[in-house]
Amino acid sequence: MFNFDSFDIKLETEFVGRNFIYCDEINSTNSDLLANKKLYKKSGTVLFAEKQLKGKGRKDRTWQSAKGLNLTLSILLAKDIVAELNINQLNLAASLTVALAIENLYQLRTELKWPNDVLINSKKVAGILIETTVKGSKIERVVVGFGINLNQIVFQGDFNYPPTSLKLESKVNIDRELVLAEVLNTFEELLMKMQEQPESILEEWRNKCKMIGDKITITDGEKSTSGTFYDIDDNGYLLLKRNNVIEKIHFGDVSLI
Ligand code: BTN
Repeated sequence: MFNFDSFDIKLETEFVGRNFIYCDEINSTNSDLLANKKLYKKSGTVLFAEKQLKGKGRKDRTWQSAKGLNLTLSILLAKDIVAELNINQLNLAASLTVALAIENLYQLRTELKWPNDVLINSKKVAGILIETTVKGSKIERVVVGFGINLNQIVFQGDFNYPPTSLKLESKVNIDRELVLAEVLNTFEELLMKMQEQPESILEEWRNKCKMIGDKITITDGEKSTSGTFYDIDDNGYLLLKRNNVIEKIHFGDVSLI
């Protein structure tokens, strides 16, 4: 069972996670938080579920996570914050959050895979799904959904990337309350940093992305393009070098050639 007191005592944030909603089962923390405008208003509201019945991954995939073993949660960013927000940078900040939290707590080296997967030993330990609602031409609400595999040791089904968990990689039981608090503490810190020194987020992200400089293929639906992973730009887009021309890539799955 989730121990709320043990989590709360470690939470050091001003606003992220201060409004905390715990659910046993829900379709998707992202969908529920995004849709219920009247119920969830405050930036930093966290919706946490022990089990998602329709957990969503990027590109209409599903996110499968065993009940009570991992972390599946979403953080709401509402009007007061979103006006200034660069969503692509937020993607990088969210994956960097998970990587830093894991490295601060456990002796494990993490790697980031564009746009926002967190890997350990070339296997996926966490994924991020950011969704927004817009009013007119303006972004109104943003939810940042985190799926982080902690204590699950058996993974069944189809995965676009081999999955792993912190327990599989570290061989110890993982303290969910501790990881959750560390993720929320780090997320708030990086959110502030994004406003003051966005270049430092980009730099830290680059340092953890080992694929930069490698030959890669980017797949987006039916379309795939190959070249060298040149860099990420200030907006977090991938820069692909092909025949000495640099092309900006907005979406897609990266794989090594
Ligand atoms: C991916 O790697 O494809 C992204 C996975 C994101 C999963 C999380 S779990 C909490 C939140 N609610 C969802 O339905 N999805 C995200």
